[in-house]
Amino acid sequence: MIRYEHKNLKPWITDDVLKLLQPQVSSAADLLASRKGPGGDFLGWYEPAKVVSSDEIKATKEASKRIQDQSELLVTVGIGGSYLGARAVLEALPWDEASENGVDIDFAGHHMSARDTEMLLDHLDDYEVSINVISKSGTTTEPAIAFRLLKAYMEERYGKDEAKSRIYATTDSKKGALRKLATEEGYATFVIPDDVGGRFSVLSPVGLLPIAAAGYDIDALLAGAQEGFAKYGASTDVLANDCLRYAATRVALYRQGKAIEILSTFEPAFHYLIEWWKQLNGESEGKNGTGLFPAGCEFSTDLHSMGQWIQEGQRNAFETFLIEEKPTSSVVVPDTGDDLDGLAYLAGRDLSEINLEAWKGVSLAHYDGGMPNSSLIVETMDTRTLGEVIHFFERATGVSCYMQGVNPFDQPGVEAYKANMFALLGKPGFEAQAKALRARL
Ligand code: PA5
Repeated sequence: MIRYEHKNLKPWITDDVLKLLQPQVSSAADLLASRKGPGGDFLGWYEPAKVVSSDEIKATKEASKRIQDQSELLVTVGIGGSYLGARAVLEALPWDEASENGVDIDFAGHHMSARDTEMLLDHLDDYEVSINVISKSGTTTEPAIAFRLLKAYMEERYGKDEAKSRIYATTDSKKGALRKLATEEGYATFVIPDDVGGRFSVLSPVGLLPIAAAGYDIDALLAGAQEGFAKYGASTDVLANDCLRYAATRVALYRQGKAIEILSTFEPAFHYLIEWWKQLNGESEGKNGTGLFPAGCEFSTDLHSMGQWIQEGQRNAFETFLIEEKPTSSVVVPDTGDDLDGLAYLAGRDLSEINLEAWKGVSLAHYDGGMPNSSLIVETMDTRTLGEVIHFFERATGVSCYMQGVNPFDQPGVEAYKANMFALLGKPGFEAQAKALRARL
C-alpha cells in the first residue's frame, strides 16, 4: 500500500552508506521489538492489534453510537498526543470514507486563546453537543481549563444529569485529577494503557473514540496498522525494509549535517498528519542536545514562500515528500474553447494529475538545488492505508531514536515551560521560582 522512493538521495545516501549502518539498524530494531531499550515500558503501541482489547473496541463503538444518537458535534478536549492523532486522521481521510451518521468533531484544550475559546463556546449553541476530554496524566493545564469551561457550559445547558450522559473521559486507569473527577461525576470512561505514551496513542482509545464518532472505520484503521506491523517487522535488512531504510536515512543525513527534515506534501488535507509527525519526532528525538528538527511544508502554497529557501537557502536540510497518487476526488480543468488564459494545454486534465507532475518537477528541482529528498507514496489515503502510514512513522521514529542513543518515549524538556507558567500564575508551591522569574521580567 505504501512505496518509498529514494533515488533523489544520491550521493548523500547510497546502498553502501546504508549497509555500513546495518548493525546499528538491526540493534535499534531489535531493541524496539524486545522492549528492552530505554523507555521499553512504553512500547504498548508497537503491535497495533494488541493495544486495545476486543471488549474495548466494542465499548468504543457503542459509545460512538450513543454520541451519534445524542449529538451533532463532539468536542474533543486534549493537547499534544491527546489531540493531534485524532485530528490528523480525521482531516487526512476523505469524507466519503465516513458513514453518514458520523458527527462533526471540534477541538479544544490545545491552547489558551480567549478569542478561540469564546468563538467555540458561542458556536456550540447551534448544535447538539457531546464532549470527550482526553488526558493521560489527567493534570495538563490547557485541557483542564478548557474542560472546566465546557463542563460548566454543558451543565448550564443540559442540566447536571444530561450533561453527564454527554461527557466521556479518556484517561489513566487510576491516576490523575481527571480520573478522580470522572469517577465522582460518573462519566463514561476509556482507559489509556499505561504502556502507551501520548504521541504514540492515536490507535488507542485516545484517537479511536473521536474517529469512530466521526463515522470512520476503526477496524480498518487498526487492520492497516497491523499490516504495517507485519510488513515492517518481517526483516531487519535495511535495504529490504522501507521503514528501516527511511529511519536509517534520516540518521545518516543528520550525521552529515542535515539538521532539519522537511515533511512536504501536495495535499492540504495532510496538514495535521504533518503536525502529528512533527510532534512524534520533535518530542521523541529532540533531547540530549541532539535530534533532527522536524518541519513541514504544504505545496503548492509553500512553494511560493518556503520554496525559495528549500531551493537556494542553507543546505542543512533534507526533504521527505508524503504523496497520494490516486486521490478519490476528481476535478477536471474545463475546455473553454479558447486559450485566453494560456491554459489550453491543460484542458481536460485532472487536478490530481497536474499535482503529481508538480511533485515530480519539484522533487527534481529541489534535488538539483542540493536538497536530498525521498518520497513516501500511497496510492489512495483510505482508512487502511492511513493505519499503515501511522505505524510506518511510529516505528521509524523509534528506530531513529535508538540509533541516536535517545529514549524515544520521554519528554523531560516539556516540563520547563510548565514550571515557569505555574510560577507566574501563582500556583501554590512555586513561590520561590515566581520571585526569581519576576526579577528577570
Ligand atoms: O506525547 C506526549 O506524551 C505529550 O505530548 C502528551 O500527549 C501531552 O503533553 C498531553 O498530555 P496528557 O495526555 O497527559 O494531558
